[in-house]
Amino acid sequence: MKARAALLLASLAIPVVSCGPDPEAVTSLVPDGYAARFTEVRNCRNTIEHIATTTQPMVSNIRVLTNPEAAEAYRMNAARLPVGTVIVKEEYDDPSCARASLRAWTVMRKEPAGYDSAHNDWRWQRVRASDNAVLVDGRVASCISCHNRPACTSRDWQCTVP
Ligand code: HEC
Repeated sequence: MKARAALLLASLAIPVVSCGPDPEAVTSLVPDGYAARFTEVRNCRNTIEHIATTTQPMVSNIRVLTNPEAAEAYRMNAARLPVGTVIVKEEYDDPSCARASLRAWTVMRKEPAGYDSAHNDWRWQRVRASDNAVLVDGRVASCISCHNRPACTSRDWQCTVP
């Protein structure tokens, strides 16, 4: 029974890694020192995203920040954010988003036209906060499929409500 449980866990863990290239080879899209530089566009709240069913670690509270140049357009629900835009969703255990409980980031970075034209050229990542390990990267089908709803795609694939 124990072996079975271990096998099951292993099979659950594999898709996370196989979503993108070798994690060792991929650099985190979370910029160094972003916390002091980026603009908060969505404040601390309980997440409605079912993170625990798709990726580890589990979290239930989030904040969203963007590079300062993109903040206004994000808040205005722009249909198309500028190339180079970086959206960082911080994922916390703590309901008040205390920094010490930061577990991971999900990131969307707007690449030049042609990177993934069918999905507005976003590159997707999930990064673990403890060691900066990139858990998924690239044109990630699981991220894309869930964000692919009119309420999000009409705002350049952004799902977080004001
Ligand atoms: C099960 C559906 C679902 C999946 C899978 C999903 N997301 Fe999301 N995402 C959401 C929802 C809903 C929000 C809005 C935030 C909230 O309230 O939880 C969101 C918000 C975000 C945000 C904040 C910017 C914004 O407003 O959209 C980023 C960045 C993000 N997701 C990236 C990702 C990445 C990267 C992945 C894949 C690793 C991913 N998401 C997978 C549903 C999903």
